[in-house]
Amino acid sequence: MTRIRRATRSDAAAIGRVHVETWQAAYAGLLPDAMLAGMSDVRQSALWAQALADPAEVRGVFVADDEEAGVVGFGSCGLVRDPPEGLDGTETRVGEVYLLYVEPDFQNQGLGRRLLDAMFRQLRADGFDTAVLWMLAENPTRFFYEGLGGVLVGQRTDTFAGIDVDELAYAWRDLDAPLVRRRLAPDDETSP
Ligand SMILES: CC(C)(COP(=O)(O)OP(=O)(O)OC[C@H]1O[C@@H](n2cnc3c(N)ncnc32)[C@H](O)[C@@H]1OP(=O)(O)O)[C@@H](O)C(=O)NCCC(=O)NCCS
Repeated sequence: MTRIRRATRSDAAAIGRVHVETWQAAYAGLLPDAMLAGMSDVRQSALWAQALADPAEVRGVFVADDEEAGVVGFGSCGLVRDPPEGLDGTETRVGEVYLLYVEPDFQNQGLGRRLLDAMFRQLRADGFDTAVLWMLAENPTRFFYEGLGGVLVGQRTDTFAGIDVDELAYAWRDLDAPLVRRRLAPDDETSP
């Protein structure tokens, strides 16, 4: 069984490992090889240890914790960092899903949806009415977000290791969307 729960400081090493593994698997051919090859579990875990020590940051971090494999996915959210140009001005407070990753062996089992759901609930509890998410334009998982009701609201160019990369923004204006609700497991820790 895999449970969605809040991250704690002791998850830093596991999240760091999953972070590197999922980036190297998902972004091969999309982000510079040297950058991906240079990612290290140790460095990423140290960054997560720093983030998880900050009460404001840890509030928006969730993990998928499998009873046998341990942490197999994670997501993080908070206040929007770069509001897309396509928001229509009716939003009062905009939040953002910064990261959402599930290990390849555990994908397509509903964990991405459940992590997204936990983050939407957190954002809603923190007073946000809208959530946005930036992703690489060439990432095939854009269909995952479209399937869950995300609407395309912007684009930008970001730079990774000196290489320009196109990104797209998706938005959800109803953080209670039924599609996200459908497969919630009863024991997910999603209330703040
Ligand atoms: C994107 C990701 C988080 C989705 O998590 P997941 O656990 O695999 O997805 P789920 O099992 O919750 O899937 C939910 C729905 O999306 C669909 N879906 C999942 N990945 C998809 C894809 N690549 N293309 C189209 N649909 C997809 C599933 O079929 C499912 O639909 P259904 O309910 O109609 O069957 C995960 O695949 C992942 O980490 N991918 C690699 C990293 C990445 O690109 N992260 C996003 C960065 S912005």
